[in-house]
Amino acid sequence: MCAAWSGVSHNGSRGGRVNTEDVLGKAPLFAALDRESAAALRTSITEVQLSKGQTLFHENETGDRLYVVLEGKIKLSRTSPDGRENLLSVLGPSEMFGELSLFDPRPRTATATALTEVRLAGLGHDDLRPWLTGRPEVALHLLRALAQRLRRTNDVLADLVFTDVPGRVAKQLLDLAERFGNKTDDGLRVHHDLTQEELAQLVGASRETVNKALADFAQRGWLRIEAKAVVILDMDRLYNRSR
Ligand code: CMP
Repeated sequence: MCAAWSGVSHNGSRGGRVNTEDVLGKAPLFAALDRESAAALRTSITEVQLSKGQTLFHENETGDRLYVVLEGKIKLSRTSPDGRENLLSVLGPSEMFGELSLFDPRPRTATATALTEVRLAGLGHDDLRPWLTGRPEVALHLLRALAQRLRRTNDVLADLVFTDVPGRVAKQLLDLAERFGNKTDDGLRVHHDLTQEELAQLVGASRETVNKALADFAQRGWLRIEAKAVVILDMDRLYNRSR
C-alpha cells in the first residue's frame, strides 16, 4: 500500500448510504453484471473516504487499486518538472479511475485529489483480474470506458492545437455541465468545485486568459459566474462558441 494512503480512512463498509447501489450500478465495471454477480464483486470492495484537498495517490506511485466515485468529485492531475500542474479530468459519481495500472502494471499516470468530501469504492487489481478473465463482458465494458477516455483525450489534444482559449473554456464548461449541471429557474447551474486556477489548468491556459474569456461570456449574458460554479444562461451560444 502506498504512502499516500496514510491519513485516508478505509472501512470495510458495504455502503450504508441509500444511493451506493445505484451509483455503482452505473459504473462500467458493474454495468455488465447481473444482480448476483454484482453482489459477489461487491464483497471485494473497500470504501474509502477523503476530505476536501486530500490526495489519494500520487503520479508515479505503484498502484494496486481501481476506484469508482460514489460521492463527491476527484481531480486527476499531472505535474511538470518545473512544478506546473495540468488537470486531466474531474470525475464525479459512477466514474472510474485507477484502471490503467491494472491493464498495464506500471506506476500511476496521474495524481488523484479530492475536490470535495469524497466517498470511493476501491477494488484491488488482484481481486479484479479473475473477473476480467472469467467474464469477457466485464472486460468489454472496461475496454469501452478506456476507448471513450482515449476519444476524449484525442479531442482535448486537437483542441489544444486548433481551438482558441475561449472555445476551449466553452467546451470544458459544457463537458462539466453534462456531468454536474443542475437545472435552475434561469439556467443550468454547474457547480464544478474548481478554483479559477484549477479551471485554467483544465483548459490548459493561463488563469488571466481563462478569466477574460469567462468575463466576456458573462458580459454577453451567456453565463453568470458564481463561487466555484457557473450558471449557463444561453446554452446554444456557448455551444456555438465551443465549435
Ligand atoms: P492509473 O494510471 O492507475 O492512475 C491514475 C488514473 O488517472 C489512471 O489510472 C486513469 O484511470 C486516470 N487517467 C489517466 N489519464 C487520464 C485522462 N487523460 N483522462 C481521464 N482519466 C485519466
